[in-house]
Amino acid sequence: MKKIRKAVIPVAGLGTRFLPATKAIPKEMLTIVDRPTIQYIVEEVVASGIEEVILITSAGKSAIENHFDYDFQLDTVLKEKNKARLREELNNISNLIDVVSVRQKEPLGLGHAIWMARNVVGDEPFLVLLGDDLVRSRVPCCKQMIKLYNRVGEAIVAIQRVPRDQTYQYGIVEGEETDIDNTYRVKRMVEKPAPGTSDSDMAIIGRYLLMPEIFDLLGRTTPGYGGEIQLTDALLALSKKRGMYAYEFEGRRYDAGDKLGYLKAIVDFALDHPALGEPFREHLEQICNGCSPADR
Ligand code: G1P
Repeated sequence: MKKIRKAVIPVAGLGTRFLPATKAIPKEMLTIVDRPTIQYIVEEVVASGIEEVILITSAGKSAIENHFDYDFQLDTVLKEKNKARLREELNNISNLIDVVSVRQKEPLGLGHAIWMARNVVGDEPFLVLLGDDLVRSRVPCCKQMIKLYNRVGEAIVAIQRVPRDQTYQYGIVEGEETDIDNTYRVKRMVEKPAPGTSDSDMAIIGRYLLMPEIFDLLGRTTPGYGGEIQLTDALLALSKKRGMYAYEFEGRRYDAGDKLGYLKAIVDFALDHPALGEPFREHLEQICNGCSPADR
């Protein structure tokens, strides 16, 4: 079985849900506590043993590439000012992992964005992580998926249960239970089903472990939901061709591309923060005890 070495992270989207904040900066650079959201994603990849990240970018996204690059000028200034700790922190980011970027020249959909990675990924299984989806978990979500892959040897989509009235916002999977915990054999999947048209509450979240055959299938996928080339449509074809599993991961997922989801992520990640967690918890307790922020 081939080792999972590469992760594709599509970051070409415009971030319209977050305007005006994202007018001049990529949505992936919005901050959660002290790091841009994209750094959490890349840290999950690194903690899962991946060696190379492939960013699928578009015009206006160079801030993301710069974030993971070495900044000679900044490093020189910090050196002169004896800011050793800060230098180390910044250099750790640029040394995290090898980053390659590929431009998606036209916004033809998520499926098309992943297809753009075909030459860099080559003939090996790989991960896909969507930049809007942050996962807080004991074991990194991708690491959980790689563990399952080592057992089943097939493609895996991470899923979570969602309220029935929200299924229209996701790719929805129908599957059959297997004898492995929290793991289902995929039978059907549909991108953003119209309300009331799917019996399942298993929603795809932005973590996929895919076989290289997906590239051929994506190349043959015609526009689907929203007139875009949908990854979900090619996944359905892959599931029919060689099988696929849906995995209910351990952890909590945040839609950081949505304003409320973003706020929830900030609160929960702040509570986890080694230095800020405790004073922030005290602040929240004051609010919960009826002392509104305006009273202080
Ligand atoms: C994408 C996928 C969808 C998935 C979702 C998870 O949709 O197409 O299948 O459920 O991510 O975040 P998007 O949210 O980009 O419209």
